[in-house]
Amino acid sequence: MWRTHEWVRHASVKGNPMTTPNDPITRRTLLGTALGAAAASMLDAQTPAPPARIRDAFDFGWKFFKGDAADAQSPSFADSSWRNLDLPHDWSVEGPFAQNEPSGGAGGNAPTGIGWYRKHFRVPASYKDRKISVEFDGVYQNSEVWINGHYLGKRPFGYISFIYDITPHLNLAGENVMAVKVDNSRQPSSRWYSGSGIYRHTWLIATSPTHVAQWGTFVTTPRASKETAAVNAKTRVRNDRAALAACTLTSSILDREGKVVVSQEASQEIAANDEYEFVQQFAVAQPSLWSVNAPVLYTLRSTVKVAGQVADEYDTQFGIREALFDADRGFLLNGEHVKLNGVCLHHDAGSMGSAVPERVWERRFEILREMGCNAIRTSHNPPAPEFLDLCDRMGFLVMNEAFDEWMAGKGQVRGNGYSLHFAEWHERDVTDFVHRDRNHPSVVLWSCGNEIGDQLSAHGVEILRDLLNIFHREDPTRFVTAACDQIAAEPRAVPVEFLNLLDVVGYNYADRWRERRELYYSEDKQAHPNWRMIGTESSGMGGIRGDYRGLEPPAPGETTAAAAVPAPPANAPAAGPGQGRGGAGGRGFGRGFGRGFRGLDTEQLWKFVGAHDYVAGDFMWTGIDYLGESGWPNHGASSGCIDSCGFPKDGYYFYQSQWTQKPMLHLFPHWTWKGREGQFLTVACYTNCDNVELFLNGKSVGLKGYAFPRFGMQGRYGQMGPQAMNGVRTTSDLHLSWDVPYEPGTLRAVGTKNGQTVATQEFTTAGDAAAIELSVDRDSIRADRRDVVHVTVKVVDAQGRLAPDADNDVAFEIQGEGKLIGVDNGDMSNMQDYKGKQKKAFHGMCLAIVQSTANAGQIRITATSSGLKSASVMVTTKA
Ligand code: GAL
Repeated sequence: MWRTHEWVRHASVKGNPMTTPNDPITRRTLLGTALGAAAASMLDAQTPAPPARIRDAFDFGWKFFKGDAADAQSPSFADSSWRNLDLPHDWSVEGPFAQNEPSGGAGGNAPTGIGWYRKHFRVPASYKDRKISVEFDGVYQNSEVWINGHYLGKRPFGYISFIYDITPHLNLAGENVMAVKVDNSRQPSSRWYSGSGIYRHTWLIATSPTHVAQWGTFVTTPRASKETAAVNAKTRVRNDRAALAACTLTSSILDREGKVVVSQEASQEIAANDEYEFVQQFAVAQPSLWSVNAPVLYTLRSTVKVAGQVADEYDTQFGIREALFDADRGFLLNGEHVKLNGVCLHHDAGSMGSAVPERVWERRFEILREMGCNAIRTSHNPPAPEFLDLCDRMGFLVMNEAFDEWMAGKGQVRGNGYSLHFAEWHERDVTDFVHRDRNHPSVVLWSCGNEIGDQLSAHGVEILRDLLNIFHREDPTRFVTAACDQIAAEPRAVPVEFLNLLDVVGYNYADRWRERRELYYSEDKQAHPNWRMIGTESSGMGGIRGDYRGLEPPAPGETTAAAAVPAPPANAPAAGPGQGRGGAGGRGFGRGFGRGFRGLDTEQLWKFVGAHDYVAGDFMWTGIDYLGESGWPNHGASSGCIDSCGFPKDGYYFYQSQWTQKPMLHLFPHWTWKGREGQFLTVACYTNCDNVELFLNGKSVGLKGYAFPRFGMQGRYGQMGPQAMNGVRTTSDLHLSWDVPYEPGTLRAVGTKNGQTVATQEFTTAGDAAAIELSVDRDSIRADRRDVVHVTVKVVDAQGRLAPDADNDVAFEIQGEGKLIGVDNGDMSNMQDYKGKQKKAFHGMCLAIVQSTANAGQIRITATSSGLKSASVMVTTKA
């Protein structure tokens, strides 16, 4: 049986528990921040004893030009009229979005094209005699990089991290100019919104010529139990000196308090311009295992000495864990069965486009965790490094995906996708991807592709074999899957040789074909008992937040709710069965409930997956709404159970009811239906209680409960356990519903478990919109030009009740040490600028994201709207 083990991530300044606020690296980063706005920034030159390895943020103080510029790689090129900005930066999300943009509905009708970035910089004296590299976490796409006019190279794949050695061309005494050309002009280039530009972080790294190679550590734990763990570390040390170096490598394992748990030393002479891989084995007694509920991290500290002098110090975070997939028992973490309650996520985040501050992901993950989600699929590309760092720290299990195309292109991108580069670049891209990410304990599964066209062809088997060889060669500890959507397809299905090769067989929409709509995985389980199986993608509970056009009966004069939904555009991708797709007008829960409710498919599929251990888990399409894959006037897909602001939709609570234990119930819709008096409305509820009783204005409308799971007899014939005896069973669906004649007042739901009231929720009919209510996710953030605060706007009536249909236009004003960097309301058809200062409320809510400056102080955020009482909130920023 194969095993997947824990592992590390590469040293990074942020989030490294070993880095204290007084650490010279941190101070350098901050100084770089403070100087960044100047056209020519100089990195810190005053640190008395420079650390062996310097990793400076290189994000601040760039120049940008949208368009092509002849000779812009030349150091003397005049760029003073270019825009000043900081990275990460995505010019696509700045708009304007337009129907005729070549990115089309697939790319969210966002602007693309060519853009140039230039940065003037000086390096500190401490960079002398060092090897200097620049690292890009991701540039979309076809980046070309020059330093002082010297061409460093090209990287077509927009999601891969890469590094260039700039030592030979760097001017240590004077100014340097780095120029980056980004070419995203061949459109449409992606089936979803890609963003354009240097949309991830950049770093300047200075090491001794003898140093740990890029992504040069690989930590594994071949055995991990509560009593003891075996930890193996492979460390590649490079000697870029012109002479042989007598190296000593000390590898220490540090616990989360920074205490050395165990340490080892090894020596080796490394020839000039050569490298050597040290292999060390450790035993850790009574390790704290990494798990979903206790994601404990350790650090491997690699100290390289040459002739007794410290040449490099490199930290790798890892977790001690044992993860494996089993054909019968599904996924096991540290020997315990864990169902992967997963969601698929694209890399964008609403108004942030693809340049997403880490805190935006952290907040989104907090919201997903509350839902009971424990697994994330990085559909369909390598994520940002900090995305995986967060998963490590927060305890998410990750299916880390490489590609959406191999050799065969997909229709929506008309030959402009990765198929253009696959033959030349896949080996390099996969190798770099695995080297970068193989130390993350969160990563438990690689995916070599999503719905790959080649899955159906004979050459597809050969390509798969080649890809599996690369993944296995670079990481023999983890399984590899592919997300296949044509298993059981007619008239042609994926050849069985293809599926037999996969370590874990990945099913997209296992309920898509014929009788599999009822039988799901069971036929394959019978025919192929040794296959390990996972749902790599399934229909989620999408829809539009707060949109109940499908729930209510048609208003007088309105035909049907479905008619109110715009038809999908001619070029929209075909809607899969049961898929709540924004592009197809955002039909999903809200729109379909009561009339062809698509969520029923999701409920039925989950009953199967939840009840069968051999299916390791499932990833819902999608966790959160994303830009692109839409049809004008929408510029995003509403298939998430959370909208692009991070506001949960009703479907969110479906998962919470299935994936969490803490008693909950979620009632919907709201109870403000002026003009519908006397009409029947369907009221629904997701719950994990035994029973829910609904009351309208104090009068019971009925007690209901799920029949699933059923409870059998216990102990002897005829004896039912207490759970079976509690309350009533009224439906085999996984939602409760009542038809209630509307009258204004209070709708109240009371949930019971074992006869005790454990959860309640109520709605009272709201009056007219009267005021703005503001709330923030944190009232204190870091003054580092990166951290952000999320400001939630609710439009409420005079009593403070949400006005569920309010669409008031809200204006934001920021005073003090903050900057407004995005406004959103979750409405994919809203045309107001994501980077503007105004946003209409959508179903009563909208969001502003405010970023700190480098100065500690206060931020005052004020929201106003004509006719509403305005509101302000204060946030502190701390150094
Ligand atoms: C899937 C595909 C996703 C997305 C989704 C839309 O088949 O893998 O990328 O296109 O359909 O519903």
